[in-house]
Amino acid sequence: MAVKTRVYQEKNIAYQNDQEKNNILEIDDLSIFYGENQAVKHAGLNIEKNAITALVGPSGCGKSTFLRSINRMNDLIAGARSEGRIIYDGVNLLASNINTIALRKEIGMVFQKPNPFPKSIYNNIAHALKFYGIRGKRQLDQMVEESLKKAALWDEVKDRLHQSALSLSGGQQQRLCIARTLAMEPNLLLLDEPSSALDPISNAKVEELILQLKEDYSIIIVTHNMQQASRISDYTAFFLNGEVIEYDHTKKIFTNPSEQKTEEYISGRFG
Ligand SMILES: Nc1ncnc2c1ncn2[C@@H]1O[C@H](COP(=O)(O)OP(=O)(O)O)[C@@H](O)[C@H]1O
Ligand SMILES: [Mg+2]
Repeated sequence: MAVKTRVYQEKNIAYQNDQEKNNILEIDDLSIFYGENQAVKHAGLNIEKNAITALVGPSGCGKSTFLRSINRMNDLIAGARSEGRIIYDGVNLLASNINTIALRKEIGMVFQKPNPFPKSIYNNIAHALKFYGIRGKRQLDQMVEESLKKAALWDEVKDRLHQSALSLSGGQQQRLCIARTLAMEPNLLLLDEPSSALDPISNAKVEELILQLKEDYSIIIVTHNMQQASRISDYTAFFLNGEVIEYDHTKKIFTNPSEQKTEEYISGRFG
């Protein structure tokens, strides 16, 4: 991918030889602060390629903060500061010389509330492609179609591409937001409770889509739905008060966790 050369910075390849091939991310001693408040405390975990990793834990335990640090969205929050290392492709993403625009193309993010632009369905996707320099109509048409197909939305919208995205249902809007992210050809998708604001049928469709996407992408998903985490994820990290209490295969976390706190949380005794 051409953009790689822009994320890579020559002086920043120190970790390249250390990184295991099957890990898309290696996160080491990550701490994140908002002013005096430490929202993430010395988190360390490796994220496997082409797997779904779920982040679970009670509200306010730092899941979104952790997720936003990966594509440097926390940079946009005044007073936010990160320490530690997030190694991606041999590069520490927290380094000051990272090109965050290129980074956010490779590591895309989808939020809880669908946030399509108030534009046509077509232009929701074409707009971002144009921003990255793609202009030809044929190429745009093709990339819009491809992204909508990948997001399992094409059949529902192919006859109304020039209608407003806001005319879509919530679940369709969320799949459009996923399509918009996929159009950037990312390697890693960060999904922050992507289906929790949706009705059960839309929720199921988005969930099914996420499972399909695992074939081609690495995915980290924040969810407060324990059934969802156990249904779709390969690995689960349990967060509590900014700390990663336990991180393991999802099956292990949900059937035989090592930590009592994990057991209490997944069995619904708090949170
Ligand atoms: N933009 C922000 N500014 C200041 N503090 C924040 C901000 N976002 C989150 N926090 C604080 O960081 C902690 C973790 O929040 P968050 O990452 O949103 O948790 P979760 O996603 O697990 O609910 C909380 O104490 C929260 O109040
Ligand atoms: Mg959150």
